[in-house]
Amino acid sequence: MNTRATTAELVAAARAHHQHDRVRLVEDPYALRLCGRPLRLLVTIRPAAWIASRWLLRDLQPSILGVLIRARYSEQALEAAIRDGITQYVIIGAGLDSFALRRSDLMEHLDVFEIDLPAMQAVKRERLARAGLAVPPRLHFVAADLAQVPVMEALAASAFDPGRRAFFSLLGLTYYLTPEVIEAAARSIAEGVVAGSEVVLDHMLDDASAWPEHRGKRMALEAYVAKRGEPMVSEFSLAGMSALMAEAGFDTVESITMMDLSARYAGQLGPLPFEVPGIFACGHFRKSGMSPEAEG
Ligand SMILES: C[S@@+](CC[C@H](N)C(=O)[O-])C[C@H]1O[C@@H](n2cnc3c(N)ncnc32)[C@H](O)[C@@H]1O
Repeated sequence: MNTRATTAELVAAARAHHQHDRVRLVEDPYALRLCGRPLRLLVTIRPAAWIASRWLLRDLQPSILGVLIRARYSEQALEAAIRDGITQYVIIGAGLDSFALRRSDLMEHLDVFEIDLPAMQAVKRERLARAGLAVPPRLHFVAADLAQVPVMEALAASAFDPGRRAFFSLLGLTYYLTPEVIEAAARSIAEGVVAGSEVVLDHMLDDASAWPEHRGKRMALEAYVAKRGEPMVSEFSLAGMSALMAEAGFDTVESITMMDLSARYAGQLGPLPFEVPGIFACGHFRKSGMSPEAEG
């Protein structure tokens, strides 16, 4: 298995492990079944999971905890977009996310397009089949390497309708892409979708914006993922990411650190079961202009 499948796998394991927590940011009854056997065992044997999260995967912990924050942030924005009439959801770098299974409540009026590397999608299909889980009829797999193919070119080969508003998420992905590839992806989306379409992403905070006491965690995380062949190659301030998206044609709905998001969620749900790293942020953007529905 390649290293990319492994990061997607760790994310699924983090979601599965989180199901044991009393306060949950994401409900994901499928995550465990989508993990490979070693991680499935690790998550199921609670003392082993505890040791892994505290010690073996210590350097990866900030990013694993960010998984839960970014998923809640994105899905709350998506729910609002659906209430507002959006009917297409594009998950860029979907990995082993079980959205289309666990949010069957939203799937009746939603087409979901998962873009990921062909090898990753092959692993996912095999895991779904092994778990006896059918691919939901409105879930579309779009295999593409976004470092080679623009987002909208990849989607052109699918049932995606560029004439209808869409919601895009890029979660757990931007830090592995160069700023040039992120800019190209943002431009490709902006040029290919109608006004009112939305993007939610998470990104690494640059050195000046990261919480000073968490800089050590950041360095350890960067060293850990670089050693596994997935170096983190981009970071932005909140304003820097807003400027990149504005250049492509998106207005900022919100740009917020994960520390501030954790305070928001703790206010809604009670104290969170983990410490949130001050090295990541989330952004929510909307393509400028009047949406086709508003134009009538
Ligand atoms: C850490 S996982 C994130 C999974 C999911 N979005 C989440 O937050 O739970 C990153 C995903 O991005 C995919 N990815 C990385 N580079 C990519 C590229 N150049 N083109 C398409 N997908 C890519 C990986 O295969 C992996 O599934």
